[in-house]
Amino acid sequence: MRLILLGAPGSGKGTISEVLVDKLHLFHISPGELLREEVRKQTTIGKEIAKYIEKGELVPNKFVVEMVKLEIGKRKDFVLDGFPRSVEQAKEIKDLKIDAVISLEVPEKVVIERFSGRRTCPKCNAGYHIKYIPPKKEGICDKCGERLIQRKDDAPQTVKERFKVYHKETAPLVEYYRKRRLLHQIDASSVPEEVSATVLELIKTLKKK
Ligand code: AP5
Repeated sequence: MRLILLGAPGSGKGTISEVLVDKLHLFHISPGELLREEVRKQTTIGKEIAKYIEKGELVPNKFVVEMVKLEIGKRKDFVLDGFPRSVEQAKEIKDLKIDAVISLEVPEKVVIERFSGRRTCPKCNAGYHIKYIPPKKEGICDKCGERLIQRKDDAPQTVKERFKVYHKETAPLVEYYRKRRLLHQIDASSVPEEVSATVLELIKTLKKK
């Protein structure tokens, strides 16, 4: 199955992707993670990319589009988490057969609370929340034992900019995919277990069609 997860920053795209990897063995493609990996490696490109991420802006297409296409390659099943992020990016993959686009809908004030508690593993990219998805041992990744960090772009001023960019560039994709009859909107404001169950149920229904 080939899925696209749409949603504002902090709507739970990464969290739901982890569930889809675990339960349905989909391959996870997250440009956010790929870009952060490039930044960590401190390559020339990585240093250039960091400037955009830290300001909360979209990284230019010349860095992102080919990188994502390369990851997709000839894979049959995957979940795209954070791509496309603009109509321009959607057009870049218009020939790719996508089974469904799931839009995770969460009010902005709920998401703001999620950011303050988010913790991320810099080694294996597992995501946590100190209240909703706490690691077994405080500050340590359950999966690989690495010390958890707070993302630089989770600073309140950067989050504000990320929302601005989301409304201008990414939100129009809801209509774009509705017109193509691929859109499924999910209320993603409840606890992670409930949101995951709703998404898995939706996928089950889609598979039967
Ligand atoms: P990216 O890493 O994709 O960030 P994002 O889209 O802003 O989304 P987040 O990772 O912040 O949130 P999420 O929706 O995955 O939520 P999560 O599951 O973590 O991109 C970062 C940057 O990279 C961009 O700003 C841009 O610069 C660049 N970039 C990326 N893609 C690009 C592209 N295509 N083109 C150009 N540039 C690009 O959840 C958030 C928190 O809430 C976590 O702590 C989690 O544990 C918790 N949580 C999750 N679900 C629930 C729930 N149901 N209840 C309570 N807590 C929950």
